[in-house]
Amino acid sequence: MSGESVSGSAGQAADVQAADVATAGLEGPGLFVVVEGGDGAGKTTQLDLLQRWLQEQGHDVERTREPGGTTVGESIRELVLEHGRGEVDPRTEALLFAASRAAHVAQRIRPAVRRGAIVLCDRYIDSSIAYQGAGRGLGVEDVASINSWATEGLVPDLTILLDVEPSTAARRRAEREGAADRIESADEAFHGVLRAAFLDRAAAAPEKYLVLEAAAPAEQLHQAIRPALEDLVASHPGLAQRSGGA
Ligand SMILES: Nc1ncnc2c1ncn2[C@@H]1O[C@H](COP(=O)(O)OP(=O)(O)O)[C@@H](O)[C@H]1O
Ligand SMILES: [Mg+2]
Repeated sequence: MSGESVSGSAGQAADVQAADVATAGLEGPGLFVVVEGGDGAGKTTQLDLLQRWLQEQGHDVERTREPGGTTVGESIRELVLEHGRGEVDPRTEALLFAASRAAHVAQRIRPAVRRGAIVLCDRYIDSSIAYQGAGRGLGVEDVASINSWATEGLVPDLTILLDVEPSTAARRRAEREGAADRIESADEAFHGVLRAAFLDRAAAAPEKYLVLEAAAPAEQLHQAIRPALEDLVASHPGLAQRSGGA
């Protein structure tokens, strides 16, 4: 988070609390909200519920996901997936994900925040830090650093971290894919490393995170997310409404 130009936005944010001034206005009137967590944590499920609820209130919602979200990003996604795990070396993969994210931020996320939309994004930098930095051993600091450069320091207003036991996530993935519920102990250890990395990110900036115990039923989790969004919406008076909205 760059704090240097805070004074530039303070004048137009008279009734916004001082703590919010650093973010409200620097990037535009909109909001950038990310949902993070391992595969099977329930991100897509919560994003669907959140998107519907916000749209019902007439908000301009931009739903997107990583990697991807732009033409260049989708090509990079194919490039990584086509060549398969193991054939793309970890540093190449980390740089490709960062390149995809640079395009995503420049072409999609920042323009949406500038027009006053609520951007709902499935995964962001913390996923790279967890998977490439911690999981693949490239180093959390280095992966954070290339991504900060790629995104020109764009930090979400809120990250909702769905924290779940590796075994619960594995069971959900198996249910979703109709596959056998089987998890290797190596997998379990890997997912434990990812989980710890996500939790470390949240612990380092607790005011920017909502960490939820994601073993709870989906509707209960959604109800726990609503107040955090209501607070953010209340502190962002310039949010756009959809023209001819609901
Ligand atoms: N809170 C929940 N409780 C039980 N099952 C859930 C919950 N959230 C999601 N699921 C189910 O678990 C599976 C994985 O959820 P999904 O939203 O696809 O996770 P992700 O997008 O994080 O990989 C899906 O089949 C979904 O219906
Ligand atoms: Mg998903």
